[in-house]
Amino acid sequence: MQDNPHRKAAAQLLPVEPFDLVVFGAAGDLSLRKLIPSLFHRWRDGQIGKATRIIGVSRNAMSAQEFRDLALKRFQTYHPNETIAAEDWEKFSKLLHYIALDVGQQGETWKALQELFAGAANTVRIFYLALPPAIYGRASKNIAWAGLKTESSRVVLEKPIGHDLASARAINDAVGAVFEEQKIFRIDHYLGKETVQNLIVLRFMNSIFEPVWNANAIDHVQITVAEAIGVEGRANYYGKAGALRDMVQNHLLQLLCLVSMEPPFNLDADIVRDEKIKVLRALRPMTPDNIRAVTVRGQYEQGAIGGLAVNSYEEDLGAAVTSESFVALKANIDNWRWKGVPFYLRTGKRMQSRRSQIIIQFKEVAHNLINSKGQAPQPTRLVIRLQPDEGVQLLLVTKDPGPGGMRLRYVPLNLSYAEAFEARYPDAYERLLMAVVRGDLGLFMRRDEVETAWQWVDKILTSWQKDATPIHGYAAGTDGPVQSAMLLDRDKREWYDAAAE
Ligand code: BG6
Repeated sequence: MQDNPHRKAAAQLLPVEPFDLVVFGAAGDLSLRKLIPSLFHRWRDGQIGKATRIIGVSRNAMSAQEFRDLALKRFQTYHPNETIAAEDWEKFSKLLHYIALDVGQQGETWKALQELFAGAANTVRIFYLALPPAIYGRASKNIAWAGLKTESSRVVLEKPIGHDLASARAINDAVGAVFEEQKIFRIDHYLGKETVQNLIVLRFMNSIFEPVWNANAIDHVQITVAEAIGVEGRANYYGKAGALRDMVQNHLLQLLCLVSMEPPFNLDADIVRDEKIKVLRALRPMTPDNIRAVTVRGQYEQGAIGGLAVNSYEEDLGAAVTSESFVALKANIDNWRWKGVPFYLRTGKRMQSRRSQIIIQFKEVAHNLINSKGQAPQPTRLVIRLQPDEGVQLLLVTKDPGPGGMRLRYVPLNLSYAEAFEARYPDAYERLLMAVVRGDLGLFMRRDEVETAWQWVDKILTSWQKDATPIHGYAAGTDGPVQSAMLLDRDKREWYDAAAE
């Protein structure tokens, strides 16, 4: 790797005030895979001090020490490449407490939690509901019943908020009956990703982009979130949800909003969220009449990933289902800036490789000077690699150096995070947890945002149903059914794959 004069270590992180965090569902996957390791990392970096308490709650009878041991064991399983120094864990684990309690029931069992909080009314108190969304309302109600909600309390909800608009509204109503909107932190972990945060900086802090970030200069936009993994241990949830609900309703629509929103006049949470919601409202609704022309559904079949044979979707779920493991669609934003610019979105499980990327495809130049040499012009393209191999690439047409006339080459200007930045950058959950502690709502979804996204997605779901839109098969390890390529081919375009460049 060449010496890069811009390569810099991360700035020192400021410690946060001590806080009390109650993780309901503490023995579950999210808690042990993401939350505890994230808190450990923030502690190790000196952001969390020893007066903080992390209180695991679940129905399992366990001592605090058993919970600490379980947390460490799972940490090592989920993060096999990480070395956790024994003395670090020893110190960090002192912050971990445990209480066995059924959050769905009122009763004596809440006493231990009440006692733990006696005298801590002014400390920031966070209730993290790492639970199925159907319980969010009841859990909030019981937290209030137990007298645990204070002025400094916040509640954290995970996506999916419901499975359609009606259920999302019911959850929001129930949680909203206890916590004011400003105290509700709805997580879409994509908003905590480093490269997703950079979208705002890239667009609005570099003066070369904003003047051309519109229908005058941009031909189309592609957003791909491809995964190589299958449904893993979540067959039950995923089989009912499918890729549209699991990924498009939240992660992909959030990316779409950040790429296409108008410049907010500052970065206050509600100012940015107001701009995002305008995009969601301007999304052209899909109807049974056009649904086949603008969406593709798929399910993976047996295939191979990284040389290993893998099961089909049906085998992974243990039954035939009508949900999709892959979706591709063409969205239009009916506003001035984006008139006539399609946004192609695709996401799926068991695709060729894990990669999330956004492609901004600029239009061809107005007059092609070099066409006479028989070379097709390749217009400028901006590739934003969200993960892995995070970076930004601007593909420019360049003269191939040397004699022999005007031969053209497509050459990238490349910003690679690995080369440019020395620091380990935190996992999305680390950033999100610290944002909750600070009370910064900017990285979280507001109620109307979630519901407007559902409104658009609901139309797709009902149109699929009315039209009986077929689900096409694709071999695991490929990039979705052939119909996904045809979706773009009809518009004389093709999916662009940064990894292949
Ligand atoms: C979750 C989805 O929200 O995001 C999962 O429920 C998906 O199905 C995951 O695998 C992808 O997240 P990441 O951070 O690995 O891209």
